[in-house]
Amino acid sequence: MTKIALFASGSGSNVQAIAEAVEAGTVPAEIVLLVCDKPDAYVLERAEKLGIPTFAFKPKEYESKEAFETDIVSRLRAAGAEYVFLAGYMRLIGPTLLNAYRNRIVNIHPSLLPAFPGKDAIGQAFEAGVKISGVTVHFVDEGMDTGPIIDQECVRIHSGMTRDDVQTAIQKIEHTLYPNVIKNLLNGNREEQN
Ligand code: GRF
Repeated sequence: MTKIALFASGSGSNVQAIAEAVEAGTVPAEIVLLVCDKPDAYVLERAEKLGIPTFAFKPKEYESKEAFETDIVSRLRAAGAEYVFLAGYMRLIGPTLLNAYRNRIVNIHPSLLPAFPGKDAIGQAFEAGVKISGVTVHFVDEGMDTGPIIDQECVRIHSGMTRDDVQTAIQKIEHTLYPNVIKNLLNGNREEQN
């Protein structure tokens, strides 16, 4: 069983979906740590209910990004984590973490990259009036949502949909796409994601 860590900053619906897929035996992994940079985030309550060990920290309590990432890396290593999956972790990964987990950090982003990178991708797509958006799962590199794409799925934005409707449609896709990509990645099958 591959040991994986999840990183999140918010509600954690993707963490929940991944944990349920692990529990159901569809994703061949053990979630050894949830890393969270917001100690009051709802994802921590979910993790507790799911029985996932957590490390919550406040970046401002460290003197630098290098310092908190060094702490994270040592906790990941202590837990035996082999892969890191970002699930709504709202922070750019720095060289300390990237070098420790080169090609082993994956992110989910709520747009069809390279369109609408960065914050509030759903709002950006909505404001742009695009008719098709979607979800991207990609490897993490130094840039903002720029690493090699692993898989994507599209969502059609119909006229009359509100921003919340788009978000609901996107999150529904995320909750099946991400566990599926993780399953295929851990099974050593990068190309065939479905
Ligand atoms: C998701 O839409 C994900 O694509 C983005 O942040 C959101 C996290 O949602 N990176 P949740 O915390 O998993 O509910």
